[in-house]
Amino acid sequence: MKILLTGGAGFIGSHVLLCSLEAGHDVTVLDNFSNSTPNVLKRVEALTGRRVELHRGDVRDKVLLNRTLATGNFDAVLHFAGLKAVGESVAKPLEYYDVNVSGSITLARAMADAGVFKLVFSSTAAVYGDQADMPLTEESALGDPVSPYGRSKRMVEQIFEDLCSSDQRWGVSILRYFNPVGAHFSGQIGEDPRGEPANLVPYAVQVAAGRRKVLSVFGDDYPTPDGTGVRDYVHVMDLAEGHLAAMHYLARKTGYRIWNLGTGQGHSVREVIRGLEKVTGRQLPWRTEERRPGDAAQCWADPSRATAELGWLASRGLQEMLVDHWRWQEQNPDGFPK
Ligand code: WQD
Repeated sequence: MKILLTGGAGFIGSHVLLCSLEAGHDVTVLDNFSNSTPNVLKRVEALTGRRVELHRGDVRDKVLLNRTLATGNFDAVLHFAGLKAVGESVAKPLEYYDVNVSGSITLARAMADAGVFKLVFSSTAAVYGDQADMPLTEESALGDPVSPYGRSKRMVEQIFEDLCSSDQRWGVSILRYFNPVGAHFSGQIGEDPRGEPANLVPYAVQVAAGRRKVLSVFGDDYPTPDGTGVRDYVHVMDLAEGHLAAMHYLARKTGYRIWNLGTGQGHSVREVIRGLEKVTGRQLPWRTEERRPGDAAQCWADPSRATAELGWLASRGLQEMLVDHWRWQEQNPDGFPK
């Protein structure tokens, strides 16, 4: 297939890019490198021995999107371009709604102009908000996502749902990611946070590497087995395979469909710390802090719909996620060359 990846140089986009090239698809990337670097694409080209066509620019640039889509003859678009820092979104809501919501609308318009109607969209378990009943199915009632980031993703889901109802040619797959971690086993690509990492595993590996002094554990009085927050960590390579499965589904079907991409297993912050200590052979300094505002006690997926309909099942466990994330950290202590 011929596919367009918006945000193809980002953490998840780059792993999907690699898997798509390895599966024999022709891929064009559209990225403005606002939170990544073209060196990501060079690494993917070296790993796969294949060329990536690049269109550099913003997903809100309709002229660029029209030009890219008109010349590409694409079968499908995988849309990763967006802003994703929950805390930052509270401080800069307009930026988040503009890039995430307006960017998606601009993309959908340009796709329709070019007669491309198959789209895979990166969504998030954040749309479920804080819930008591686990696991979360795609039918679980949605809570109010606590951040502009989570709300922007939910809005885009609704926009695509309305679009599919309005025009039978559209096929949109919504993938709700749980907590993506890990890296490609080569250690050549991985998550490269700018500045202080906001998420648990990226922060913890920097503590293990000695780049940061101590890990803050946000709350130890949650109603969970050890009092710390429980999440469904999912290997980024499993996620990448989920995207290929969703794309193949779209080749046969139209309409709007949501899938959870998680392992179905929850792990606490303490379990992640213990796991990383085992993997690195180092003691991880940590201390308990106040709960982080907006955090849910627990969150894990029921991924059975993705298994039944896409034939997808996460095959990598927490240990493998941490081994791969640590290899990436060790081989690239300062991330990608800038
Ligand atoms: C996991 C657990 C924290 C950092 C968010 C977004 C989601 C997705 C992934 C996407 C929680 C605890 C964390 C730390 C800690 N974003 N923690 N110390 O909040 O589940 O999900 O990131 O693009 O949409 O909502 O992930 O890794 O931040 O937190 O104790 O330094 O680790 O309280 O229990 P989260 P996380």
